Amino acid sequence: MAGLIPQAFIDDLLNRTDIVEVIDKRVTLKKAGKNHTACCPFHQEKTPSFSVQPDRQFYYCFGCGAGGNVIGFVMNFDQLDFPLAVETLAREAGLEVPKEESKAASKRRSENVIVIEVLEQASKFYQYQLRQHENKQVAVDYLKSRGVSGEIAKEFCLGYAPPGWDNLLSAVGTDVKKQQALLKAGLVIEKEQHKSGGSDNLTKFDAQYYDRFRHRIMFPIRDNRGRTIAFGGRVLGEDKPKYLNSPETAVFKKGSELYGLFEAKKSSTKFNRLLLVEGYMDVIALNQMDITNAVATLGTATSVRHLTRMFRQSGEIVFCFDGDDAGRAAAWRALETTMPHMEDGRQVKFLFLPEGSDPDTYVRSVGKEQFEKEVDKSTPLETFFFAKLSQNLDTTSIEGKARLSNLAKPLLRQLPRGVYAQLMLDRLSETLGVSSESFDQLLERSPPAQTNAEVFSLPDAPPLNFGPNPKNHSGKKLASYRKPSSLKAIELLLRNPEIALSIAQDLKPLHSAEDESRKLLLSLIEMVRKKPNTDTYTLLGYCYGTNLRTQLTQLLKSERITPQEGIKEEFNHIIDNILSDIAKKLDLLELRGELNSRVSATKDSN
Ligand code: UTP
Ligand code: MN
Repeated sequence: MAGLIPQAFIDDLLNRTDIVEVIDKRVTLKKAGKNHTACCPFHQEKTPSFSVQPDRQFYYCFGCGAGGNVIGFVMNFDQLDFPLAVETLAREAGLEVPKEESKAASKRRSENVIVIEVLEQASKFYQYQLRQHENKQVAVDYLKSRGVSGEIAKEFCLGYAPPGWDNLLSAVGTDVKKQQALLKAGLVIEKEQHKSGGSDNLTKFDAQYYDRFRHRIMFPIRDNRGRTIAFGGRVLGEDKPKYLNSPETAVFKKGSELYGLFEAKKSSTKFNRLLLVEGYMDVIALNQMDITNAVATLGTATSVRHLTRMFRQSGEIVFCFDGDDAGRAAAWRALETTMPHMEDGRQVKFLFLPEGSDPDTYVRSVGKEQFEKEVDKSTPLETFFFAKLSQNLDTTSIEGKARLSNLAKPLLRQLPRGVYAQLMLDRLSETLGVSSESFDQLLERSPPAQTNAEVFSLPDAPPLNFGPNPKNHSGKKLASYRKPSSLKAIELLLRNPEIALSIAQDLKPLHSAEDESRKLLLSLIEMVRKKPNTDTYTLLGYCYGTNLRTQLTQLLKSERITPQEGIKEEFNHIIDNILSDIAKKLDLLELRGELNSRVSATKDSN
């Protein structure tokens, strides 16, 4: 069997796994406040006493006392031993379990220990320089000029890397091993001459390395557990680059770290929401104004890893980027990244700042109260989504609607199934002025076709056959077919028999209908009219005796959600259409009859 699973891997796995997702795949969970509940899978019960707590990544049954973390759950539920449960979870998370820690891996891990150690020492060193260095006043003045108090500087462990090439190197790199660790930590850089084997440079250490960060304000980046894993360093003036960051190292993966998360968690264990901002200074300024739930990406776009980590802390994320083109573009990119992760219960909003502001300058100019008010009122994802897509479109025109539909659908398709997805679809339908599609129908659709006909045809998922059309044995998709409205009316009626009582029109013309679905519709209406409390199942039973049975079963299976208020109207509308269609045909027949008789009259008179 495989060897020991490294603890680091298990930590990583736990970090990447959401207990709610894992359990929900096995037991259907219901949201109840911030937790989720279900009937306990580990004992017999009728009322739910099994609860899953996302913020603690923990489950517990108040009935039988079963409880534990996600690995424990999988062990119990899937009846697996520990390694297999880890294996299962890893597979679900798309990870591979390191089978047996190789010598190389264990060496790497012990190397990481010393890398973390020198990072910590470096942080202490920089903080010390901010208090003690002969040059410290420049740094202190700079921080003051940016409104950073000593208290906040201390909380965020801000420091100062003094000018010079070997301050850190000589303070922390006391032996070769430490120097190599500093190199691996990205804190020192190897001199070119040494790389190529030369040895003509002479420093007091004859060192091969020099300090990466010089004469900069230092922002330590800390991981979940508060270990310093990297730094950002800001110039004191206007030089370039403004920020210098640690490179990616064995302990620092830029694309998944959030600056300020550790500090935020320290100041509060529970957030209603998290703010995602762009910069170190935004986080610091917000904290300075006593807004402690802000985190920043590290100059990278918002990644899925970022989202997962944030959603683990809070069900609501507010993106609050700079009020410039880059910030607005970043907001849209964040929206695109977020779509596939908009599970029910999650909320995402956008706070758009005035042109030229960033959260740092803005919160300082408007103050905490006003800023928080604006966060409260920030734009929900769905509003931003439609506003952005409708930009430069005339959504009252057919072309505009088609374009909007084409832009929206590929993105909507990425939403996880659920109430939120349906709400978004309803909103799209509302704007387009078509009846609402269910999410399933959207998912089953072929890739977006670019014609108006496709966009506006009714759901075309299962290629059913209606009326006299020959069967579609070819298996090809019917490009754009319209479900006869009478079938739609039957469907509505089956779901809501009472609507048969709401029609005021004279249905006599329907008696002359030849179309099978129209005949069936009439019979069903008459059944309900005769016996007003006829229920769905009685009507269905009747339908099963007809040739339309298969079509109707399919229709009913595709869970369509028509808003309750609109059902009567839609039904009546269809009846109107059918009646006027019949009337037209009758007129036509009459006309034809008239013509015929005229023709024969002429013939006769000849
Ligand atoms: P900003 O330039 O908006 O940062 O870049 P900021 O925090 O507002 O800067 P100041 O101090 O108030 O002027 C946002 C983030 O992008 C990364 C940093 O993580 C920064 O916080 N960045 C920016 C860099 O990595 N390098 C740069 O040169 C600039
Ligand atoms: Mn900024």
